[in-house]
Amino acid sequence: MPVRYGASWRAQTLVTLLLAAACSKPAAAPPKAQALHFDEALWKPPLEADIPNDSLGKSIKRGLYLMRFTPESLPKYVTSGLRCTSCHQVDGLKASAAPLTGAAARFPKYMPRSGAVIALADRVNYCFTRSLAGHAIPTGSREMVDILAYITFISKDVPVGAHIAGTDGLISMKDTLVGDTLRGRTKFEATCVVCHQKDGSGNGPIPPLWGNRSYSIGASMAREERAASFIWHNMPQTAPGTLTPQEAFDLSAYINSHARPDSPGKEGDWPTGGAPPDVPYATKGHQPHRPPATLIPRPVEGSLVPNPPSVLTGSDKK
Ligand code: HEC
Ligand code: HEC
Repeated sequence: MPVRYGASWRAQTLVTLLLAAACSKPAAAPPKAQALHFDEALWKPPLEADIPNDSLGKSIKRGLYLMRFTPESLPKYVTSGLRCTSCHQVDGLKASAAPLTGAAARFPKYMPRSGAVIALADRVNYCFTRSLAGHAIPTGSREMVDILAYITFISKDVPVGAHIAGTDGLISMKDTLVGDTLRGRTKFEATCVVCHQKDGSGNGPIPPLWGNRSYSIGASMAREERAASFIWHNMPQTAPGTLTPQEAFDLSAYINSHARPDSPGKEGDWPTGGAPPDVPYATKGHQPHRPPATLIPRPVEGSLVPNPPSVLTGSDKK
C-alpha cells in the first residue's frame, strides 16, 4: 500500500515538475489561427443519395420526407394542401425558390418581422403556422428534430455566418411594379389553370394558390412582390422564365386578391415599424397593401409562434 502511494506520489510530482518546466519555457508564438476559407462557388449541398446509412441518416431522411409529404405525414398540424417543397422546391435546394441550403449556419438570427432573435426551430414553425396555415409542431418532437437534421445536412460545411447568394429568401425583383388583377386573371386562365385549376385549388401535388387550403395572409407569399419573385423565377413549372416581370406582378396581384386563411397575431409583426410596402395587413405605422378577405378564423393557440423576449438595441437593420 505505502509503496503504491509512494509511486503515485512520485508520478504526480513528476507531472507537476514537467508542467512547471513547460510553463517556464519562453512562450512560443501561438500557432496562427487558420482562417477557414469557404469558397461559395465550389460548395455544393449534399444530396439525398449522400445521406448516411446510420441513425443520423435515418433522421435526415425522415426530415426530408416530412418536407416532401407534409400534410400526409402531419395531418394533425397541417390541413392545407401545401408541402414545404411546394415553395422550397427541389428539396430546398433550388436557388430561386427560397433555398434552405446553409440555413443551419444562419440561425439564430435577428428577424425584423419578429423584432427578436429567432432560433431555427421557431423559423420552421413560422412556415408551419403561416406558409402552411397550420399549427406549430413541438420544438422537441421527433419530427422537428428530423426537419432540423435535414436542414443541417444541406448546410454541411457552410461556416456559421457565411453568406451564400440567393439565401436571403426569395430573390428581390429589380423593379417594383404594380400588378393588375384583371390582366393577372387573363394570364392565369391562359397559363396556370391547367395545373392549379380555375378556382386556384390545385390538384394533388399541385398546391392551392388561394382559398382555405392555401397559405395564410401572414406568409411571405401573400406579399405582392414576394410572390411575383417566386412566380417570375419558377412558374409555370414546365416553362419558368417565360413570363415578363409585369406579368409576374399581375399574376401575383390576382392570386393574392383572393381570400385565404387568417394569421393570428399578424398585427404584432414589425413591432418597431418598417414593414415592407407590400405587406397586406396593418402593422405599426403601416397601411395594408391590397388586403384580401380572410377565411377560417384560427385559434391563437398553436397558430402563433410566441417571440422570445426581445433584446432590441435600436441599431438593427430593418
Ligand atoms: C407558401 C410557401 C412556403 C411553404 C409552404 C414553406 N415555406 Fe419556408 N419560407 C418561404 C419563404 C418565401 C421564405 C423566405 C422568406 C422571404 O423570402 O422573405 C421561407 C423561409 C424559410 C426558412 C428560413 C430560411 C432562411 O435561411 O432564412 C426556413 C428554415 C423554412 N422556410 C422552412 C420551411 C419548412 C420546414 C416548411 C414546411 C414545414 C416550409 N418552410 C414551408 C415559403 C414557404
Ligand atoms: C405544369 C404544372 C404547373 C403550371 C402550369 C403552373 N404551376 Fe405553379 N406549381 C406547380 C407545382 C407542382 C408547384 C409546387 C412546386 C413543386 O412541386 O416543385 C407549384 C407551385 C406554385 C406556387 C407556390 C406554392 C403555392 O401554392 O403558393 C405558386 C405561387 C405558383 N405555383 C404559381 C403559378 C402560376 C402563377 C402559374 C402560371 C404562370 C403556375 N404556377 C403554373 C405546378 C404548375
